[in-house]
Amino acid sequence: MKLAADEERMLSGESGPGIQRAMELLIAVGEAFEAERMVDISAAHILSPEMQFWNTGQLAGWSRELVEESVEGVDGFKVPTTINPIFLDPRLAERIAFPAGFIEEMQRTLAEGRQTYARLGIIPVYSCCPFYVYPARKGEHIGSAESVAVLYNNSVLGVRVNRESGPTALATALTGKTPLYGMHLSENRYARALVKLKDSLDPATFTYADYNALSYYVGGVVVNRIPVYAGLPENMSTTQLKYLCAPLGVSAGIPMMHAAGITPEAPDVETALGARQPEMVVEVGKEEISTTYEQLTSAREERINYVFLGCPHASVPEIQEIAGLLYGKKIHPDVTLIVGTSSPLHLLTREMGLVDIIEGSGGMVISGMCSAGAFLRRNVPKGYKVGVAATNAAKAAHYLKVGGVQVWFGNLRNCIDAAIKGKWEGS
Ligand code: F3S
Repeated sequence: MKLAADEERMLSGESGPGIQRAMELLIAVGEAFEAERMVDISAAHILSPEMQFWNTGQLAGWSRELVEESVEGVDGFKVPTTINPIFLDPRLAERIAFPAGFIEEMQRTLAEGRQTYARLGIIPVYSCCPFYVYPARKGEHIGSAESVAVLYNNSVLGVRVNRESGPTALATALTGKTPLYGMHLSENRYARALVKLKDSLDPATFTYADYNALSYYVGGVVVNRIPVYAGLPENMSTTQLKYLCAPLGVSAGIPMMHAAGITPEAPDVETALGARQPEMVVEVGKEEISTTYEQLTSAREERINYVFLGCPHASVPEIQEIAGLLYGKKIHPDVTLIVGTSSPLHLLTREMGLVDIIEGSGGMVISGMCSAGAFLRRNVPKGYKVGVAATNAAKAAHYLKVGGVQVWFGNLRNCIDAAIKGKWEGS
């Protein structure tokens, strides 16, 4: 790879061993993907090893020790850097009945991690949706380890970003550089599959769950082809767009989609396809959407114990909607309703009086943690029964189902009704 003078200096060890190691790692990745050079990034979003452990049950070569080694001699991040969820809300830890020793050990590790990140100047969003707090601009390059942030940045904001691993995202934050390959290059950003909605669907009436189901279904069909959606309403809200992006991270693993007329690089379908014919045309109608609802549901029992909202982390309008639906109502005593959001939006919505409404009805607004990850059966203490859960998020339903939790997938109104009545009555 051709290195600029500042990159050569970082590689030489002039800025300390941590930066040197970060540059070596980025060069190794760049060479593996045949990148010709590095590019400057304007921001980074990193993943803590603790979060990776909660979500996947394994550290995959990524640990707190490795983080400490990587930041040796480093004064601070080179670019504004945000971080994914990291800790478990103590109220939930208590409810899940973790043994006291375990909670203490976890809090100690997390405190160490937070101290390190604070020293380096982290922007403490603790969220998979850093773009609500610190959005980058169209055409900028960033580094990010979170699939939701990658999908939303590429698809909605026109920002250029590859899905990094924990260690490589940290290396981008420490050096302010990333190898120029993949989604950083225009030629790799064109759509290769065209998604058309059949007449049986009216996207103007879509709920968040419908957008989740559409995206989950499309991801399963296109697999590794970037899709372009034709015919979606151009006035889609940022929350609807978040739900159109997120499920692609679990059903497909692709880093971008185009919504014609919305994605900055896709004023129309032809431009999104780079004036080429699509390799595949996917038609989606009512039948495909309802099959996806069934596919995301694994519960049979009506009685429910948990309702998970805010996966990806809830936006302000979404929390307003949830508070509106719960206003003056009481959640069933057997049900724990959890709304996950980022730390800054948690503070903001508390100021707005929304958290009080949700908590006054018996729900819980949590921040800093992944709404669903802590409830995967392998993560909860032996003998604790998560029971039956309900959610309007395809990503949460996918993870919970794979993790052995019985789950109902349906729209927000049905989830709130179920929380109040203590039982699922269908979508
Ligand atoms: Fe965010 Fe956790 Fe869902 S990281 S996208 S709340 S699975």
